Amino acid sequence: MTDPVAITYAPFDAAILAGVEGRLVVPVEAEGRLNAAARKVDQLTRKGVTRLMATKGWEKAKVGEVAWIGFPAGLACEAVGVVKVPRKPSVAEAREIGAAIAKAGGTGPLTVAAPGFPLAEELVMALTLRAYEFTDHKTAPREPRGPLSLMVDDPDAVRQRLQPFDAVASGVFFTRDLVNEPANVLTTTEFARRLEGLRDLGVEVEVLEEDELERLGMRLLLAVGQGSDSPSKVVVMRWNGGGEENPFALVGKGVVFDTGGISMKPAAGMEDMTMDMGGAGVVAGVMRTLALRKARANVVGLVGLVENMPSGNATRPGDVVRSMKGDTVEIINTDAEGRLVLADVLWYAQERFQPTGIINLATLTGAIIVALGHEIAGVFSNDDALAEALAAAARAEGEGAWRMPMGEAYDAKLKSRVADMMNVGGRDGGSITAAQFLRRFIKDGTPWCHIDIAGVASVKSDTTLAPKGATGWGVMALNRLIADRYEGK
Ligand code: BES
Ligand code: MN
Ligand code: ZN
Repeated sequence: MTDPVAITYAPFDAAILAGVEGRLVVPVEAEGRLNAAARKVDQLTRKGVTRLMATKGWEKAKVGEVAWIGFPAGLACEAVGVVKVPRKPSVAEAREIGAAIAKAGGTGPLTVAAPGFPLAEELVMALTLRAYEFTDHKTAPREPRGPLSLMVDDPDAVRQRLQPFDAVASGVFFTRDLVNEPANVLTTTEFARRLEGLRDLGVEVEVLEEDELERLGMRLLLAVGQGSDSPSKVVVMRWNGGGEENPFALVGKGVVFDTGGISMKPAAGMEDMTMDMGGAGVVAGVMRTLALRKARANVVGLVGLVENMPSGNATRPGDVVRSMKGDTVEIINTDAEGRLVLADVLWYAQERFQPTGIINLATLTGAIIVALGHEIAGVFSNDDALAEALAAAARAEGEGAWRMPMGEAYDAKLKSRVADMMNVGGRDGGSITAAQFLRRFIKDGTPWCHIDIAGVASVKSDTTLAPKGATGWGVMALNRLIADRYEGK
């Protein structure tokens, strides 16, 4: 697993700056005031910082921009990075600064000397998340990032405030590694094996195999996986940190690769479908975070792990299959497979656990990317209170989420001539008809949100907190939602 950069915390001491090795970063306020670290560096470099600040480039630099002074005389380090910061940074700005340092910081030891910098923990958090790199399949040895040494006024306080974040970073990295992993490595079997690793943290993990899924009647899920040599599985992860109350349920789409099946996708871009288990990846990451921080809540995570392949044994367009719930589905398009997987897992989650609420995550539709792009996820819900709590948690974590509409008229598009419903409702409003399909498998009275993360699970250009590739979108928001709603924090 990719580990977050190692961090050491030290009290700020101007006397040791001259001897710091690797790269040294000092914040300088946009208004021009030098903190104790910048003052010392300025003195050691014979006004190097002051001269830098007199340039047009500095004047034009945005908050978070880093200007480097290479091999500065008077200092042992290879470069001093002067980063522009506002006097009173907002949380978003502190994160922007941390991310910028991660981006500019290169490999090897990095020291950030930030005495007097408010929100140092937000800076470190962003730096950590942005410094993620997926290098498992790079052959050439790579110099690792860090260690990061943080010099602040009160290192113990900062370390304390960051303690819950260690669990979050570890969960986010777990999700990103799963999502970045190619499908020949992350088969359904390997995915289940990695989830079983959560047992070490106190999570109860059960793996339901095909014969069991057959017995339970999860024929929709099995219909998706039947063309693949990888066996379909449902993994149930239980974290019981709360009292006697029923759990909250997180359900994830775990299609380890989506060729589309017999309704095959075009070749261009098909390699992206290695991230079609993104929903399951987020559920796994949240479970890891909850366990690491010993959350005082009962949460059950369920993921449907399948591979959607064409073969002589694959489901055909037009096949009619009975769900675990009992309703029949005419599978018009085998590429609309995520909803089939989720329908059975959602039903199973409700039958077995009577959850107090359910959130499912899925890279469900290309249509949500048309609607919202790669910036924010689409949220569909039958419960305003849960949807608003989710929106608030996502906002607080800087993870964008936007509520989408639902309604009878969309549901009507799923009417089938031969079965109880079709699995597609036409091209128009495709994300909404997909959500309506899922809603048919939610019992009345169960608060539910479906989050379509097709646009945000993995991206082609860097975001503030993630390099391109898997983002781990949602781990922080869901962790916070559970903390806010079930742990009274
Ligand atoms: N996994 C895809 C959705 C997707 C598209 C995720 C792009 C990430 C990026 C899903 O299984 C799918 O194929 N959806 C179809 C549904 C259609 C056949 C009704 C789609 O969106 O085209
Ligand atoms: Mn598909
Ligand atoms: Zn899919």
